[in-house]
This record gives sequence, C-alpha cells and structure tokens, in this order.
Amino acid sequence: MALLEVRGLTKRFDGLVANSDIDLDVPEGSLFAVIGPNGAGKTTFFNMISGFLQPTSGTIAFAGVQITNLRQDRIAAMGLVRTFQLVQLFGGMSVAENVEVGCHLATKGGIGAALVRPPWFRHQEADVRAKALELLDFVGLGVQAEQEATLLPYGQQRLLEVARALAAKPRLLLLDEPAAGLNAHETEVLADIIQRVNRQNITVILIEHDVALVTRIAHRIAVLDFGRKITEGTPDEIKRHPEVIAAYLGTEEAAHA
Ligand SMILES: Nc1ncnc2c1ncn2[C@@H]1O[C@H](COP(=O)(O)OP(=O)(O)OP(=O)(O)O)[C@@H](O)[C@H]1O
Ligand SMILES: [Mg+2]
Repeated sequence: MALLEVRGLTKRFDGLVANSDIDLDVPEGSLFAVIGPNGAGKTTFFNMISGFLQPTSGTIAFAGVQITNLRQDRIAAMGLVRTFQLVQLFGGMSVAENVEVGCHLATKGGIGAALVRPPWFRHQEADVRAKALELLDFVGLGVQAEQEATLLPYGQQRLLEVARALAAKPRLLLLDEPAAGLNAHETEVLADIIQRVNRQNITVILIEHDVALVTRIAHRIAVLDFGRKITEGTPDEIKRHPEVIAAYLGTEEAAHA
C-alpha cells in the first residue's frame, strides 16, 4: 500500500478541467516530484489532496484512510501538511513564533488555544519553544529566531515556511514550488534541507519548475500537462520521455541543457 493513493482525481472549474482523471501512488519514504508547465494543474492537485478544494470526482487515500472531502485541519492533523506557492508568513510575529504556530497544529487545543492561552496551555509552551528553535537550527535560521518574520530576506522566508510545516509533524509534506525566486546558492541549501527531511522518513511531494533540481533529488517524477498526468517515472526516464521534451522542456536543446 502506498502512503498516498490517488484515483481518478478530477477538478472542473466551470468549463475548465484543471485536473483530469489523475492516478498517483506515492510510496512511504519517497521523495516524489510533480512537474509541468504553468497552469498544468499542479497546485490544484495539492489543493485537493490537502483538503483546500473538493474534487469534482475521484478519491484520495492517505495511510489507507479515505480523506476525500475531509476538512483541511483534519487532514493536517493526520500528518498531511503543505506549504503554499506564495509565501504566507504571519506578520507582527517573530521567526520563532511563526514556527510555534506550526507546532500548535500538532498540540492540544490547536491554534485556538495558542491565541486564548488557557492555563494548561502554558505547560506545553516551553516544549513548543524548544521544538521551534530545534527546527530553526535545522533549516539554518536559528540565529534569526527573534527577528520579525516578514523582514527576513525572501529566500529565508521560504526556509521558514518549511520549518513551520515541519513543526506540524508531517508524515507527508507537500511543497509547492519552494525554490521559486531563489538564487542558485539558496536553491542548493533548500535541496539539501529537502533531502535531509526525506531521510528522516518524511515522505515529500515537491512541485517544482526547476527540472535540473527535480531530476537531481527526486526518486520519482510525475508530469502534468493540461490537467492530465502525461507520464511518470524515474528522473532518467523523465529526461528521455518524448512527450516531456515536447510538452514541458519545449525544445530538444532544453532537454539536453
Ligand atoms: N479556484 C480556481 N477557480 C478557477 N480556475 C482555477 C482555480 N484554481 C486554478 N484554476 C485554473 O486551473 C488551471 C490549473 O491551475 P493551477 O494553479 O493548478 O496550475 P499550476 O500547475 O499550479 O500552475 P503554476 O505553475 O503557474 O503554479 C489554471 O488554468 C488555473 O487558471
Ligand atoms: Mg501552482
């Protein structure tokens, strides 16, 4: 049994078919990637898996449990955690506090308790702070813990989002274009973090436009185009696939670049 089993997943927006009959199996422990041109339906796919959008049809099973149509907070509590394509940090909060919010998704009372702070809540606070600092060290932001989150340089904001997602204790982590807007060095740092996350037995699905990055770190890659999964395979298979070269890489030269 794969950790994530998607069958016939379809999403229509009025006349547009954003996802069309997608089947996907993601084995536990794998580093999986989803690539495809702009508008191919990648984010829509994540939105359905994470419960942010209801599928038009099809099913999603996580760890053997049907999660199709479950609420997003229930899905997150089961260990299926996502980041967003655009940075979504909390303003007016420090770097560490942003990660603590992520921790509270996985602690008693959730974010509501973190805001209201009943007495029992304070007992778990010290643990939460320690966990947040540990995660910030893990992504290399330990020194910036007390800074205002939204004042971090963009590349570090993206790393902070990864730390916040990890705070929610994912078993499956969905990353929507985490390298978008990063320079070459920042992309290397991120790639290393994603691989270290995966080695902790956290299954990862990465949406990414950077084919070089994906073919280097992913174990397996699915390619979407116009809402359909056109192929799936190992990085070597994907690089050689004619439909991928035509639909995604554009030209023969791009395929060899
Ligand atoms: N909420 C929505 N309502 C209507 N149409 C939508 C909605 N969300 C996405 N779409 C459309 O569905 C198609 C797929 O969009 P999606 O965001 O999933 O693509 P993507 O592969 O993530 O693209 P990108 O690489 O640009 O992020 C697009 O044509 C988009 O305009
Ligand atoms: Mg997208």
